[in-house]
Amino acid sequence: MSRFTVNNQPTEYRLDPQTPLLWALRDASNLTGTKYGCGTGQCGACTVDIDGQARRACQVPIGSIEGSYVTTIEGLSRERNHPVQLAFLAENVGQCGFCIPGMVMAAAALLRRDADPSEDRIRAELTNLCRCGIYPRLVEAVQRAGRAMRGEET
Ligand code: FES
Repeated sequence: MSRFTVNNQPTEYRLDPQTPLLWALRDASNLTGTKYGCGTGQCGACTVDIDGQARRACQVPIGSIEGSYVTTIEGLSRERNHPVQLAFLAENVGQCGFCIPGMVMAAAALLRRDADPSEDRIRAELTNLCRCGIYPRLVEAVQRAGRAMRGEET
């Protein structure tokens, strides 16, 4: 049994402790906003926040995060108006949309560490993959979200 908090809810999984967090979230908790892309830690579609860090849920066995705090895209903002989500909408970042939840989670984690990241840092740290090629709009959106979070005009 593995116990940790998911989107502010104490949660208990009666699954093999080696079960990847991705599958516990999607199959046991029905939190399907966290996507399965590669399953090998490469694409970032499964990115969630664990104790303040962006982590790839397909690579995290649930037995390794006892007592942790996990936030998924569903828990990032109850009204879906987190500054990163609003900036993604304003910049029309989404195309097919499959990578977007992971991108949003990774961007939110980056902005918590650095409220004003340079374009180079955004490109270096947001290593999530997008087959539609949204990268230029992604950079604009992260910078827009940073300005909003700093209380500046967007
Ligand atoms: Fe986890 Fe691709 S599904 S990194």
